[in-house]
Amino acid sequence: MPSETVHGANTPAPRTVLRGARLLDARGDHGVRDLWLEGGRVEGFDLEGPAELELDASGLLATPAFIDPHMHLRVPGQEEKEDLASGLAAAAAGGYGTVVSMANTDPVVDDPAIVRALVEEAAALGLTRLRPAAALSMGLRGEQLADYAALQEAGAVMITDDGIPVADSHLQRRACEYAVELGLVVQTHSEDPSLRRDGVMHEGRASHTLGLPGNPDSAEAIMVFRDCEISLLTGARVHIAHVSSERGLRVVRWFKEQGVPVTCEVTPHHLTLTDTVWESFDPVFKVAPPLREASDVAYLREALRRGVVDCIGSDHAPHTRAEKDRDVLTAPFGLPNIEVAFPLLYTKLVIPGEITLPTLLNLMQAGPARVLGWPEPTLEPGAPADVALIDLESERPVDPASFKSKARFSPWDGEPLRGWPKLTLVGGRLAFRS
Ligand code: DOR
Repeated sequence: MPSETVHGANTPAPRTVLRGARLLDARGDHGVRDLWLEGGRVEGFDLEGPAELELDASGLLATPAFIDPHMHLRVPGQEEKEDLASGLAAAAAGGYGTVVSMANTDPVVDDPAIVRALVEEAAALGLTRLRPAAALSMGLRGEQLADYAALQEAGAVMITDDGIPVADSHLQRRACEYAVELGLVVQTHSEDPSLRRDGVMHEGRASHTLGLPGNPDSAEAIMVFRDCEISLLTGARVHIAHVSSERGLRVVRWFKEQGVPVTCEVTPHHLTLTDTVWESFDPVFKVAPPLREASDVAYLREALRRGVVDCIGSDHAPHTRAEKDRDVLTAPFGLPNIEVAFPLLYTKLVIPGEITLPTLLNLMQAGPARVLGWPEPTLEPGAPADVALIDLESERPVDPASFKSKARFSPWDGEPLRGWPKLTLVGGRLAFRS
């Protein structure tokens, strides 16, 4: 993106008109209209008068920018993997207006000063909005609760030790009791560490054939069950991150049917890849929880249609190329995906008719907003001018070399996709333009 097209965080948002886009939001399809934005908010449709910025959006979809409840930004301490500028530029390129960053950094986000610094430094960039999650336990050690009141006061919107499952059920209970008092959502990385052990991939036919250590889906189902029971016990809003298996998702569904206040997300990779990719022995596919079997992918997709899944969480987890080039046993878990999330799901799920476009948008807009207790993103006058313009027609292959993320590799390298974001406005300012 040419730098002169980016309006920095300190400049006022210009009065802008997006001409001739098809406007679609949670309230429905508003047809092809001109969308006017002023002062960082939606002004209205088909207005008149002078615009400081006029953009031809004909043939494009205009929709509220996406919300990611689950992104790894690696700040502080692991900036060689990702920093705020690269991660938030990647998010903007993916059409995201707001992301929640995880706390498994170095040092861990268990200190209000770190939360404050993240919020301030991110705001100064004028890219995608950053809302940090804070650690559930000090140092993610699973021993002592962090000070949630102080972390929330500093700007934390979620509590989670994501990356490391909370093994101690009593600590999880106390975390939930504390979070309830503050109205905070507790996100869980639900895998039983004593059962997943050193598994690098899903335990099943493929792991047996390849002779690689497996991680069974029961490790997920057992921990999802515990985390849902603790939600029931405490009344806490528990959000189960990256549910990957049929068995895990069946448990969430069962608790939801009983009115327990649990929510869940699934990721773009668990919806589109299976454990057979491991035939390549390529650590790019090494992710926690692991890629499962075709029947799990089918169940996850069916759950999107049934409304069991609340939202898509990217779990964008950047690592350096050198780390991912190690052998499969020692390479780190995690893959980058925030720049391809929408085109991938649009191409693989919406175009073949597995889910509708409004369902996908709901999972990336109103769904995550509801999980976090935020207002529903719309294009109504007065709503924040966080808008993505998307080209649903042109096909382009995934080109990791062009990623804004520092993690310039991808499980979908070279795959032709449709649905690429062309422009992302955050608070009425250009955060991305292709
Ligand atoms: O694959 C993963 N990578 N899963 C996680 O939960 C953590 C993440 C990371 O931080 O790299």
